[in-house]
Amino acid sequence: MTNDRIGHLPNHALITQNQRIAWIGPDSEVPTKTNPTEEINAQGAWLLPGFIDCHTHLIYAGCRAHEFEARLEGKSYQAICAEGGGILSTVNATRSATEAQLTEEATKRAQDFIAQGVTTLDIKSGYGLTLESELKMLRVAQKLGETLLLRITKGLLAAHTLPPEFTSKDDYIDHIIAVILPEVVKENLAEYVDCFTESVGFTPEQTRRLFQAARDNNLPIRLHADQLSNLEGAGIAAEFHALSADHVEYTSESSVKKMAQSGTVAVLLPTAFYYLRETQLPPIQTFRDHGVPMAVSTDCNPGTSPSTNFLLALNMASTLFGLTPTESLLGGTINAARALGLQNEIGTLEVGKSADLALWAIDHPSQLVARLQSPPLLQSWSSGNRGLPQQCSSI
Ligand code: NIG
Ligand code: FE
Repeated sequence: MTNDRIGHLPNHALITQNQRIAWIGPDSEVPTKTNPTEEINAQGAWLLPGFIDCHTHLIYAGCRAHEFEARLEGKSYQAICAEGGGILSTVNATRSATEAQLTEEATKRAQDFIAQGVTTLDIKSGYGLTLESELKMLRVAQKLGETLLLRITKGLLAAHTLPPEFTSKDDYIDHIIAVILPEVVKENLAEYVDCFTESVGFTPEQTRRLFQAARDNNLPIRLHADQLSNLEGAGIAAEFHALSADHVEYTSESSVKKMAQSGTVAVLLPTAFYYLRETQLPPIQTFRDHGVPMAVSTDCNPGTSPSTNFLLALNMASTLFGLTPTESLLGGTINAARALGLQNEIGTLEVGKSADLALWAIDHPSQLVARLQSPPLLQSWSSGNRGLPQQCSSI
């Protein structure tokens, strides 16, 4: 690699044991008493850490192609939401769907990710907005983690938009704090709390109240921040030591400074930027100047990013946002791990970390960012368990 932030170790071996990386070193120094149950000669292929998609809304029902058409005719995302479309239209479809239906649909999407070397996938709730239906979404997410060769992380995004049962956003936040959050904590169904801070979502003050409740329940936070306007969401997230602030197109320099101080990751979602035909670019150079780590994700969801194409998100982070290919690759690996608080477990090839690996038929990792072709994945492993490459329906 030209940029040594990604190391290149030619003619090296990696040994896994008990689902973890046990040894990495030159071929000539492989410990002689190693008696592997299986040995793979990579024959010049590149072994990389499994990719991590740290921000998806994978579980939903329904289709919003008509909104795409309306936006092409000039209607804004906010106007569609105000008319009861947008997030609420997916809420209606998701509430009506059974766990089995949601599982079947989400499994197909998850398989697209697996076929691109993704070994960790984050899934948010937020298309239920009642206790019962938020739990339904999170249980489906948990089940995917048990049935697929994929590490699943789960976020409670009950504060996604105001559900029809409520007329006051304050009352709904109270309900999340008093009813939904405690039950999710009790059933251990989410690793963090998320919120959509925006005119079509919740105010900074409501966000702070929710974050305080998350803190009281010892749950980390993440935030959909500054996507359509600057409400200083990323700064608020950083004040609460959020793992990440996501979208961040409108984030101000003062918020970026706060993110740098708190170690909050900027999660870039270029597919949503593209799909909404946004023009406000995230402050990439300011993130760089202040040393804020940048992650890259698909934001897979039915409204603003109906895409399971992880490698395209990496490509768009470079083509649309100007990340170097190395930055995009770090955004899909170690910085995505940081956004999930899992940087000691996944995201790099290091002894002691989980054996989440992907073997690629490439000459150089930047090809994974540069090409717009089917993913040249030879093999992947999730916690040391071998997954077969699968046909990717989306690419
Ligand atoms: O990340 N920004 C809020 N949530 C999603 C969009 C949800 C939707 O439109 O269904 C996002 O872009
Ligand atoms: Fe999102």
